[in-house]
Amino acid sequence: MKGVVLAGGTGSRLFPLTKITNKHLLPIYDRPMIYYPIQTLVDAGIEDIMVVTGGRNSGDFLRLLANGKSFGLKHINYAYQEGEGGIADALALAEHFSDGKKVCVILGDNIIEGSIRAAADEFRRQDKGAHILLKEVPDAERFGVAEISGGKIVGIEEKPKQPKSNYAVTGIYMYDPSVFTKIQTLVPSSRGELEITDVNNAYIGEGTMGFSFLDGWWTDAGTFESLLRAANLVANSGKKDLTAGAENY
Ligand code: DAU
Repeated sequence: MKGVVLAGGTGSRLFPLTKITNKHLLPIYDRPMIYYPIQTLVDAGIEDIMVVTGGRNSGDFLRLLANGKSFGLKHINYAYQEGEGGIADALALAEHFSDGKKVCVILGDNIIEGSIRAAADEFRRQDKGAHILLKEVPDAERFGVAEISGGKIVGIEEKPKQPKSNYAVTGIYMYDPSVFTKIQTLVPSSRGELEITDVNNAYIGEGTMGFSFLDGWWTDAGTFESLLRAANLVANSGKKDLTAGAENY
């Protein structure tokens, strides 16, 4: 299975922090934000990784990550998203890279305490469909929210005013190769984006969406509150890397 980190978009909710740099290059405690989702993929045994980014600071990703040596990788692939057409629009750029294989997609601002290895291994054994990771949260209206009935996800609503459950859809998605034909059928939402929630609902509609619950804490880092929370969670957990220094990076 290949890995895709989506690090495009404008980061407008973090202005002016993102006026002169990309959101995913901002610090989360002792490392740039993008380090965490890359490490999550590597920890799940995924070593062929593409970073999709965009905007004026895209060259900084190459300077920061280079060929991925600090993650034990031999190379990293890069794609450039023109504009900010949404998460599914960014994912479409990974079609050639995916080369007909399954993909594990992670949003560049999603940081987790634990591992997705077990879910990834389960999905490796699944012959088709998709798998998403859910997390119970107190503020589900900020996220895609899954409605579960009879042990299955029956629908996902993007940022509903009245969530049907407390189960947020985290920004970690595993897809079979049909994801790219599904993206081609999408139309932009009211916020002008191709929504990943519409992709997930297409899998739910054909009855091939699996799910599991993420262990440990999970946060995004796209608002001032969640950026601070992410730094505090890392600082107070075993994820901090006190040996970090120029010689290690
Ligand atoms: O964090 C999980 C949530 O992420 C999910 O629960 C939602 O269903 C999903 O829509 C998404 O919601 P957000 O509103 O938080 O997404 P945001 O626009 O902040 O984008 C998240 C990441 O996706 C961002 O850090 C980079 C990537 N992205 C986003 C856009 C809009 C791109 O690569 N390109 C884009 O055009």
